[in-house]
Amino acid sequence: MIKKRLLSYELSTSLRLTHWLRAVSIVVLIMSGFYLAYVFVTPGHSNEPILFLNAKVRMWHIIAGFLLICVTIFKIYLIFTDKYSIRERVSFLDFINPKIWFYQIRYYLFLGKHPELKGIYNPLQFATYVFLYSMVILIALTGLILYMHVYHHGLGGYLYDILRPVEAWMGGLAMVRQIHHLAMWPIIIFTVVHVYMAVFNSVMGRDGSIDTIISGYRFYKPEKKH
Ligand code: HEM
Repeated sequence: MIKKRLLSYELSTSLRLTHWLRAVSIVVLIMSGFYLAYVFVTPGHSNEPILFLNAKVRMWHIIAGFLLICVTIFKIYLIFTDKYSIRERVSFLDFINPKIWFYQIRYYLFLGKHPELKGIYNPLQFATYVFLYSMVILIALTGLILYMHVYHHGLGGYLYDILRPVEAWMGGLAMVRQIHHLAMWPIIIFTVVHVYMAVFNSVMGRDGSIDTIISGYRFYKPEKKH
C-alpha cells in the first residue's frame, strides 16, 4: 500500500478538467475534420431530405471547436492565476536560461546528468507547448473565419467585420481553409508523441504521471521527492 507521506497533490481540479476537455475536443475535431476535408462516409440512398450527415458532422465539429476555444482561454487564465500552476509559470525562468538549455541538450545526447529545474517543464518541453498553443490559436482563428462565413447571425455576424481583414491578410478564404487544415498536423503529431511519452514516463519512471492527471496526486519514492 502507498503511504500517505509519499503522495503530493499537484494538479488542481481545474487543471485536470481543462486537460481532459481539451483531449476530448481535439479527438472529436480531428475525426470530424478529416470527414469535412474528405467525405469518406455517405448515408444510404433515401428520397427524403432527412439524412444531413455532413451538416451533423459539421455541427459536432463546431461544438467541439467552441469547447476547445473556451477551455483554452480558461487554461491560459489558469496559467497566470492558479496557485497550482506556479511550477508552469516558473518554467519560464528555465526556458530563458541558456545554461539549462545546454545541460538539457547534453542530457538528451547521453553526455551528462539531467539539469536541476526550477519549474515543471524543461526548456524543450516549454518550447513545444508554446508551439502547440500557437497552433491551437491559429486553428481557432481560421476555424472562426470559416464559421462566420456559414453562420451570419449572432457571434458569426459580430466576428465578420473584425476577422475579414485577417482573412484578406491570410490570402483569402481558400487559403484560410488550407491553413486550418495544415495546422491540424502539428496537433496530431503532438498528440501521438504526448500520449507515447506519458505512457513511457509512467511505466519507466514509475511515478504515476498518468494517475496524476486523473486524481491530481503524484506519488514519489522518498529519495525522488523534490
Ligand atoms: C484541433 C482543432 C481542429 C482541427 C484538427 C480541425 C480540423 C478541420 C479540418 C481538417 C477541416 C476541413 C478543412 C478542409 O476542407 O480541408 C475543418 C473545417 C472546419 N473547421 Fe475545423 N478544426 C479544428 C478546430 C476548429 C475550431 C476551433 C473551429 C471554430 C469553431 C473550427 C471550425 C471549422 C469550420 C467552420 C470548418 C468548415 C466546415 C465546412 O467546410 O463545412 N475548427 N476543420
